[in-house]
Amino acid sequence: MSANFEVRGDVAVITLDNPPVNGLGYETRRGIVDGLDKALADAKVKAIVVTGAGKAFSGGADIREFGSPKAIAEPNLLSVIAALEASPKPIVAAVHSVAMGGGLELALGCHYRVAAAGAQIALPEVKIGLIPGAGGTQRLPRVLGVETALNMIVSGEPVKSEMLAKLPGQKLFDKIVEGDIVDAAVAFAREKADARPLPIVSKLKVEYPNADAYFQFARNTVGAMSRNFPAPLKCVDAVAASTKLKFEDGMKLERELFMALMLTPESKALRHAFVAERATTKIPDVPADTPTRAIKKVAMIGAGTMGGGIAMNFLNAGIPVVMLEMKQEALDKGVGIMRKNYEAQVKKGKLKQDKLDERIGLLSTTLKYDDLKDADLVIEAVFEDMAVKEQVFKTLDEVMKPGAILASNTSTLDLDKIASFTKRPEDVIGMHFFSPANVMKLLEVVRGKKTAKDVLATVMQLGKKIKKTTVVSGVTDGFIGNRMIEQYSRQAGFLLEEGATPQQVDKAMEKFGMAMGPFRMGDLAGNDVGWYIRKRRYIEKPDIRYSKTADLLCEMGRFGQKTGAGWYDYVAGKRDAIPSKAVTDMIEKHRADLGITARKIGDDEIVQRLVYALVNEGAKIVDEGIAMRASDIDMVYLAGYGFPLFRGGPMNYADQKGLFNVVQSMKRFAANPLDDQKFWQPAPLLAKLAAEGKSFS
Ligand SMILES: NC(=O)c1ccc[n+]([C@@H]2O[C@H](COP(=O)([O-])OP(=O)(O)OC[C@H]3O[C@@H](n4cnc5c(N)ncnc54)[C@H](O)[C@@H]3O)[C@@H](O)[C@H]2O)c1
Repeated sequence: MSANFEVRGDVAVITLDNPPVNGLGYETRRGIVDGLDKALADAKVKAIVVTGAGKAFSGGADIREFGSPKAIAEPNLLSVIAALEASPKPIVAAVHSVAMGGGLELALGCHYRVAAAGAQIALPEVKIGLIPGAGGTQRLPRVLGVETALNMIVSGEPVKSEMLAKLPGQKLFDKIVEGDIVDAAVAFAREKADARPLPIVSKLKVEYPNADAYFQFARNTVGAMSRNFPAPLKCVDAVAASTKLKFEDGMKLERELFMALMLTPESKALRHAFVAERATTKIPDVPADTPTRAIKKVAMIGAGTMGGGIAMNFLNAGIPVVMLEMKQEALDKGVGIMRKNYEAQVKKGKLKQDKLDERIGLLSTTLKYDDLKDADLVIEAVFEDMAVKEQVFKTLDEVMKPGAILASNTSTLDLDKIASFTKRPEDVIGMHFFSPANVMKLLEVVRGKKTAKDVLATVMQLGKKIKKTTVVSGVTDGFIGNRMIEQYSRQAGFLLEEGATPQQVDKAMEKFGMAMGPFRMGDLAGNDVGWYIRKRRYIEKPDIRYSKTADLLCEMGRFGQKTGAGWYDYVAGKRDAIPSKAVTDMIEKHRADLGITARKIGDDEIVQRLVYALVNEGAKIVDEGIAMRASDIDMVYLAGYGFPLFRGGPMNYADQKGLFNVVQSMKRFAANPLDDQKFWQPAPLLAKLAAEGKSFS
């Protein structure tokens, strides 16, 4: 039973006990109802307290039950709440730490609520594409008023208990208490033992004059802000119902909207991403209790584009950083950029001046390796050149204290080879940040053949501390994200040869939801980066077909925004991508040289060819054990490549389309003589899953 029962004198205490956050799984729900039965049967008991053990009142639904029959087995949450509300003896919710989703709805079913100061109160269902489904949309407006309730339900954001308790006229909390919350709730319950009639939230009236005008306004604002996400507007509909319909009818509408949202691809995608995000840190052979190394000081080699951004992550987390460069000017330049970044945040009101001083105060710089030796972790972000990396890692091996973790931010080089330059390859790991490293959420943690388990566990934990989405990748060219993007870019190139323009491809992908189409992305990142990589890679593998348009573009000196011209033209000081005549001419000439007559290509074909290119390579990456699971790949794309959240990542998108259909499309693409037949050979894992009618998840 995941709820405990005790009687303290004349008050029964039911304590939810389902770590980590007292999720309202089947056993916990049963436990509450059993406790209630006992309390009602015991003549000694005059009042009842409901609370949660450990670090939460309740975090809401138990995500481990998602989609299983247990999630709706009776007593379901609605039935539990109805039972509490109908209790003839007063029930007090003792809310502390966290009361979210179903947890808050449970508390709203109680007659009274006392809360510890600082408790986080939220109805976050909208974040997984749903609306609250156990009366939240009908009861919260009754205790907080329509506007506050709607704000909380539409945003899903937590609000501190004491803030809500201060709102005029609120009926959510009867009391905010300091000190032991359960003792206080028991005392409060005793006070209310004889109070009758018992206050029942569902019986309260929602008074809201001008409701129609307000909800019209709310629909306009919410609609404009939630393009591609159906749930927020449904939140408005449900809350509006609380002002118009009888409670029971409002509940019926809430249920209908909830069930309909459950089936939307957007909610499926958001729920997938929610679970996927939590799964990334689970490493089968590195259990959660693996000891970690203390990281109290970080050393950074290189103060360039990446070095500065990476260092900021640690300064923001309060970890001192010592940064090394070859020349004082490079240090000055790097630190200057970091300072400017911080100052921009101060200007925008996102950072206080004293915090800026504090963070910069944690940074020191040096030209001597000797000053790094006591750091617990050193991250190298020097030029992408094996010879330079070799020299750096050999030196680090000599100077760093035993047990220090030696990390490389390389994007393309073989981490195992880098590790082999040291006598301690077990301490070497890849930490692949994305640019700008102080902003981008993704961190690929590259596990080398010899990387020690505690090194991996430490870096995963550190990733969380610096608020990154941390995904483990094995050693492979480009790791997970860039290895896949190469296939995406190859398809984008073929599309140009066959008749598409860069702007058409970008538009189609942006309409699909990508933050940026492939060509605008190239212009932002610098087309020369890919050019350099292609020269290395495709000389080694001359049988790989790719479109030469990108090379021709670079031969024209069009490296992207930094040179004022790339796939598009740019006006100095602006980032608007203007279609370029020179580029169109180049593509047309190239097409003519290849003897290709342009054809009209639909947006659907563009999206499918680009996304399925990711999917097929992703399947290979899972099959090879480079990624631990398909959902990790989705997290890489959601956190690092601007893949639309409402589509849940490329692998989830393929799952939702049905892998059989994905393979059928690939067969069609393979039949196109201008495409690459080998390219569309389904990866063995994809072919197998499609044949068995299964999905990646
Ligand atoms: N730029 C990106 O988008 C990106 C993204 C992920 C990873 N990376 C990787 O990060 C690394 C650095 O890339 P960057 O874009 O910051 O390059 P950058 O040229 O901006 O910076 C490199 C810095 O390293 C310094 N440096 C070179 N050799 C050194 C040495 N021996 N000792 C000390 N300092 C030295 C240089 O002076 C320069 O300031 C590369 O391995 C790159 O592949 C880059």
